[in-house]
Amino acid sequence: MSDRQALADGLTVARDRTLRLVDFDDAELLRQYDPLMSPLVWDLAHIGQQEELWLLRGGDPATPGMLPPAIEDLYDAFVHSRASRVALPLLSAADAHKYLRTVRAKALDTLDALPDERADSPLLGGPDPAFAFGLVISHENQHDETMLQALNLRSGAPLLGGGGHLPPGRPGVAGTSVLVPGGPFVLGVDAADEPYSLDNERSAHVVDLPGFRIGRVPVTNAEWQAFIDDGGYRRPELWSARGWDHRCQAALVAPQFWLPEGTRARFGHVEAIPGDEPVQHVTFFEAEAYAEWAGARLPTEIEWEKAAAWDPEAGARRRYPWGSAPPSGEVANLGGGALRPAPVGAYPGGASAYGAEQLLGDVWEWTTSPLRPWPGFTPMIYERYSQPFFDGDYRVLRGGSWAVGADVLRPSFRNWDHPIRRQIFSGVRLAWDL
Ligand SMILES: [Fe+2]
Repeated sequence: MSDRQALADGLTVARDRTLRLVDFDDAELLRQYDPLMSPLVWDLAHIGQQEELWLLRGGDPATPGMLPPAIEDLYDAFVHSRASRVALPLLSAADAHKYLRTVRAKALDTLDALPDERADSPLLGGPDPAFAFGLVISHENQHDETMLQALNLRSGAPLLGGGGHLPPGRPGVAGTSVLVPGGPFVLGVDAADEPYSLDNERSAHVVDLPGFRIGRVPVTNAEWQAFIDDGGYRRPELWSARGWDHRCQAALVAPQFWLPEGTRARFGHVEAIPGDEPVQHVTFFEAEAYAEWAGARLPTEIEWEKAAAWDPEAGARRRYPWGSAPPSGEVANLGGGALRPAPVGAYPGGASAYGAEQLLGDVWEWTTSPLRPWPGFTPMIYERYSQPFFDGDYRVLRGGSWAVGADVLRPSFRNWDHPIRRQIFSGVRLAWDL
């Protein structure tokens, strides 16, 4: 099977990330940093439990697994809320590590034994065993990002360093925009082009959009400071009714982790807020208010995807905003090593066909869109991945943050969260009607 080595590499890269994020003593791993997050040891064992379920048990929880059912149940994210997980009789860190190693060894044996040809199945991800590997790699990377959110909320002396090197920004790009002319484009992807795309990204279909402008880069900390200085958090007319209620109830006055005198906390480090870095840790409601203040609006997720993926000259989608080459440190800030977004203008080589930059990586970008299925939606083997959330009070975020694995992100990738959440690595890109 041609993907075999890539899948093995994907599993290894994800596991290396995971192990770096849990390389602490037992007491640390059992701590709950915030009611919004699980203790790290829960994520650790849950990663193994999902890998076992999808790769070794065909996705069928009735198939006996390695853990006693009462223990396995502790790792069902739909049964136990994040806030309650710290009180569960969880596996010790040592037992969780051992479980993960056992599952991984068997998973790699399963990968070796896969048939050379992809199973030709009309069912999305159904009998195609390679798809389940992609799903598991994506899942582990998603939990690595979740664990980074938890570590960022942790109080006390920093456990992680300041993060890796990033390229410098470019002056003159903040606050500028690019034109996306009206016309049809192809939204979403098909399994034939993106075999590891998840159910909510499928299928490819033509959508006609009016023209619009979109921010060349995300909104920066310096721009956000101007919003604060202009009374942005004190002027109800800038906010939606729900947004203002939340702003009052939660006493929001700045992005999360901002401290007095132009400083912020980041993974426990207190540092000056870099003005040219995309703003992070804002709710959807704050993003909306900022856009109103700036004389703009937030994009829809469909606009976002067109700006990121469509090549109007070719009349076709690009695999990535910049073309077909896989993501690298030359074009995007991904993979989690930086521990922060890159300054705006850092990746001119990552621009989309329309000239928008930093669409993948850096910060998740809020859109106005609630999570809805594309036409003809068919749930994948992990049936509860998307479907339970289609009618909920969520907004879609696009583009991935610096914490997303480089090999699990696509312009069609859709994330979603409650509009009040901001422990996520969320930021803002503006849009304008013509
Ligand atoms: Fe999960």
